[in-house]
Amino acid sequence: MVVLGIESSCDDAAAAVIITQRAGHAIVRANAVANQDDIHRPYGGVVPELASRNHVLTIDPVVQRALASALCELGDVDGIAVTRGPGLVGSLLVGLMYAKGLSQMAGIPLVGVNHLEGHLLAPLLENKLTMPYLALVVSGGHTALFVVEDFGRYRRLGATRDDAAGEAFDKVAKLMGLGYPGGRIIDELARRGNRKRVRLPRARVKGAPLDFSFSGLKTAVALLLRSEAAAAISSEDLAASFQEAVIDMLVRPTITAARELNADTIVLTGGVAANSRLRERLADAAAADGRQVIAPSFNYCTDNAAMIAIAGSYRLLRGEADPLSLDAEANLPL
Ligand code: KG4
Ligand code: ZN
Repeated sequence: MVVLGIESSCDDAAAAVIITQRAGHAIVRANAVANQDDIHRPYGGVVPELASRNHVLTIDPVVQRALASALCELGDVDGIAVTRGPGLVGSLLVGLMYAKGLSQMAGIPLVGVNHLEGHLLAPLLENKLTMPYLALVVSGGHTALFVVEDFGRYRRLGATRDDAAGEAFDKVAKLMGLGYPGGRIIDELARRGNRKRVRLPRARVKGAPLDFSFSGLKTAVALLLRSEAAAAISSEDLAASFQEAVIDMLVRPTITAARELNADTIVLTGGVAANSRLRERLADAAAADGRQVIAPSFNYCTDNAAMIAIAGSYRLLRGEADPLSLDAEANLPL
């Protein structure tokens, strides 16, 4: 079965073509992304109205690019998987309406996919994993621990009470005047910094050891930058100290959950999973208990349509399809 995946939930428009014969197994033939970082950079964050307006311009070219690089035509496609939430509603609608148009025009079945389900199943694009597995999804929009029990069965163990970890990276980078998106910039600066130079708080959520909270840390950095002490601290040291605090707050609940479940594998996914120090720290902490960490390659960690295609394909393989009345939902629960 040839599946076309379409993703436009935030600021990236993406299209992918996969070939699949059974649930959770796929060969990626094309994985194209139209990135909007240059458009949002002057504002230091995603401007929803600009994101959706640009999706209107790029969605068709990115789908055509994916089909061309997979050496496919629309007539070869057996099913379409499209993100229908959660995300920015204007952005979601562009991909969804476009996918409905293709489905209607070419008579191809369509399924709507939850964006988080895409992140959770992304490691299957490159690895053979047995379910259940524990997954930490950590991106600009989400920070949560899930157990992937089966296709379509996901149990949330904990989540952030305020900002997502990627959001904290981006906001702190903005406060430090480093540019956008901030995660990768902080990651690079931190390599040359002293992680113990600045003492920053590590928040824990009372009575909920598997939940996360990052807003206090962001405020602590904001206050520090406004104080007289700031002048004596290099950006490298502040980046390294901040990053280490975020990582401590991500690693602790994840290891707690892995011990509770006795999970032999921990999946690390979402844009922040690209962070080199997070990968290293989580892998070390897991290895100390005899567990392994699996993280998708960078292109499958950040928002992409291959993960949406694999997440939609198990339903398409069963012969399921959603009606054309399918709607976008900004807060779609998993
Ligand atoms: O998954 P993603 O592409 O989009 C969302 O679904 O949010 O994640 C983007 C987020 C941004 O907040 C970005 O700053 C962060 O991932 N990010 C990183 C790194 N690369 C991207 N954060 C920390 N270290 C990185 N190397
Ligand atoms: Zn995402």
